[in-house]
Amino acid sequence: MDSQTQITPSLFILSLLLHSLSLAGGHEVENSSLYPLVVSTWPFLEAVRAAWTAADDGFSAVDAVVEGCAACEELRCDGTVGPGGSPDENGESTMDALIMNGVTMEVGAVGAMRFVKDGIRAAKLVMQHTQHTMLVGDQASAFAISMGLSGPSNLSSPESMDKWIKWKENDCQPNFRKNVLPSNSCGPYHLKDSMDFGKTCSANKFIQNCGSVTSHVGRHNHDTISMAVFDRMGHIAVGTSTNGASFKIPGRVGDGPIAGSSAYADSEVGACGATGDGDIMMRFLPCYQVVESMRLGMEPILAARDAISRIRRKFPDFIGAVFAVNKNGLHAGACHGWTFQYSVRSPQMKDVQVFTVVP
Ligand SMILES: *[C@@H]1O[C@H](CO)[C@@H](O)[C@H](O)[C@H]1NC(C)=O
Ligand SMILES: *[C@@H]1O[C@H](CO)[C@@H](O)[C@H](O)[C@H]1NC(C)=O
Repeated sequence: MDSQTQITPSLFILSLLLHSLSLAGGHEVENSSLYPLVVSTWPFLEAVRAAWTAADDGFSAVDAVVEGCAACEELRCDGTVGPGGSPDENGESTMDALIMNGVTMEVGAVGAMRFVKDGIRAAKLVMQHTQHTMLVGDQASAFAISMGLSGPSNLSSPESMDKWIKWKENDCQPNFRKNVLPSNSCGPYHLKDSMDFGKTCSANKFIQNCGSVTSHVGRHNHDTISMAVFDRMGHIAVGTSTNGASFKIPGRVGDGPIAGSSAYADSEVGACGATGDGDIMMRFLPCYQVVESMRLGMEPILAARDAISRIRRKFPDFIGAVFAVNKNGLHAGACHGWTFQYSVRSPQMKDVQVFTVVP
């Protein structure tokens, strides 16, 4: 049946109302009532198309999420997802990835994984072939290779090496160190004297007392694909993949592989994806908050804004965003510190649509 014929006057008025709300609030909402449905952070069009095609072909939500995130890893979306992206202080790129099945609440994740390019596939292997939730570091790489993924591979690219060399030439600025000396060089670093070190960093005075925290996090050094797929059955899965933050301290794992932070799904309720300053966001589990708020009846837009405002109250300068999507296909985004975009593909759309959200 043509979906146009189903639009009743009252639904039409409701959608007009929602549309004007969205203009006023700087976010977009839409009722995409039919599955499959794919929602992803950023205009990662090819990744969304890959997930959509898989789900439309009858793949499960989990398998479609793998297809979508793997496409992003292969294409190196924005230069920060997949191998060859953000180098750490040593110039090395590592993979963080997560997958979650919103029906069974099973989760698989890898953190700081070296030498293996397939982050999302490694996460899926952890979920499906272990009783664990997360593997990290070289042991995650060894596991992934032992389960058939290719490696060891060099995850650096000419671009990531070039970026790293320029950073070294700039005295390793900016970096993620704090309360250390010498702060304006490449180290080695040591603690400031004990008087300084004992000073507490009250949350509201964090920026003044404890050095710059977020100024070096931006659109192109900190991106994560976080994707939700509703398959034809309406089952939901979410997945993420990232290289983490550029020039991070080796060993750093951000929000990417943390369930409830970068992504969360419960097929009874809906899903959420997040991107931004993961070091701060992971302290608030924003996606868990979004899904639980929706469970209590909040609309996606309010749930998304609430999750962002909880972080903003403590860290007014943080940069981040979430999207929220409920079982009815209603979706929305909220952001702070930057303009956020997320992509949607539903059966009513001819192709992926990108929604822009302003702070
Ligand atoms: C969205 O569609 C579903 C299914 O048709 C419906 O139950 C729900 O009320 C709709 N929501 C809005 C806000 O239009
Ligand atoms: C890895 O690749 C980068 C970029 O192509 C290159 O500069 C580096 O030498 C390679 N490392 C190894 C160990 O082959």
